[in-house]
Amino acid sequence: MTDEMSVTVLGLGAMGSALAGAFLAAGRPVTVWNRTQGKAGELVARGATEAATVEEAIHASRLVVACLWDHRSVHATLDPVTGALAGRVLVNLTNGTPAQGRELGVWADEHGFALLDGGIMAVPPMIGEPSAFVLYSGPQEAFDAHRDTLDALGESRYVGADHGLAALYDIALLSAMYGASMGELHAFAMIRSAGVAAAEFAPLLQRWMATVGGFHERTAELVDARDYTRDVVSNLGMQAAAYHNLIDAAHEQGVSPELLAPLYPLMLRRVAEGHGHEDNVGVIELLFTRRSTTRAT
Ligand SMILES: NC(=O)c1ccc[n+]([C@@H]2O[C@H](COP(=O)([O-])OP(=O)(O)OC[C@H]3O[C@@H](n4cnc5c(N)ncnc54)[C@H](OP(=O)(O)O)[C@@H]3O)[C@@H](O)[C@H]2O)c1
Repeated sequence: MTDEMSVTVLGLGAMGSALAGAFLAAGRPVTVWNRTQGKAGELVARGATEAATVEEAIHASRLVVACLWDHRSVHATLDPVTGALAGRVLVNLTNGTPAQGRELGVWADEHGFALLDGGIMAVPPMIGEPSAFVLYSGPQEAFDAHRDTLDALGESRYVGADHGLAALYDIALLSAMYGASMGELHAFAMIRSAGVAAAEFAPLLQRWMATVGGFHERTAELVDARDYTRDVVSNLGMQAAAYHNLIDAAHEQGVSPELLAPLYPLMLRRVAEGHGHEDNVGVIELLFTRRSTTRAT
């Protein structure tokens, strides 16, 4: 086994432990470190080496993967040991914002190591399974050099050299997930308000959301064209009129409409601005608080 094959994992929470376990399952020599000792037992039993200090853990591998609590904990852990990171590749899989990813990229450049910032699109039990994918951004050569190792976690998706891009994609995907979750919770609350079992309703919800999930490519075409007049099937004016029924029905059933409510004023504004005959996708034009930039890569 060479140093090139080994990997260090910093952070042994639910996700860091899953990442270390997947590297072990792929046959990589793994060194682990966690702020609080005592979390490495199972991984050590499977062949991992537990380092006593973060610096010792970094020295063990050319590739260092950090999966900590937040951006602040990444700096708290690694600012004192940037000398040890010099010449290595740090893959930060701690959740953060695009600006935080870019800040880490500058910090890595200043200290002479390569940074790949990442976003994990999976929960811990999915790590290493085909359903998992992980986003990476930063220097392409660092990604290419370590892709084989990173593939142990799930499908590796490189999204560009700008260090902020992995977090941007991650946050966009999570935003879509939470938006869907808001709709799901509201739908189940409506159903439960009438005494209907959620389990009875779930298959219909599954079917309906699968249908709705098929619209993303059409939506993307309109967004890219910035033209919401093409092949309109259900225009915004009609949808805005019907949306009021969603709010009224929630009140009738004793359910708070607060998860649904934010979209309604945006629909009304777009209609008031003369776009009622267009596709409701045009509501996106009201979301930008500053001019959108050109592509960041
Ligand atoms: N779990 C998921 O489903 C999931 C999915 C995608 C992405 N993520 C991301 O993965 C990251 C880790 O999540 P997790 O589920 O593993 O969380 P977790 O189980 O709560 O573990 C948190 C980890 O961060 C460490 N930590 C916290 N504050 C620290 C500090 N100031 N300095 C050094 N280490 C610190 C903890 O160490 P101690 O043991 O010493 O407290 C622990 O190792 C998060 O950014 C999360 O958003 C999680």
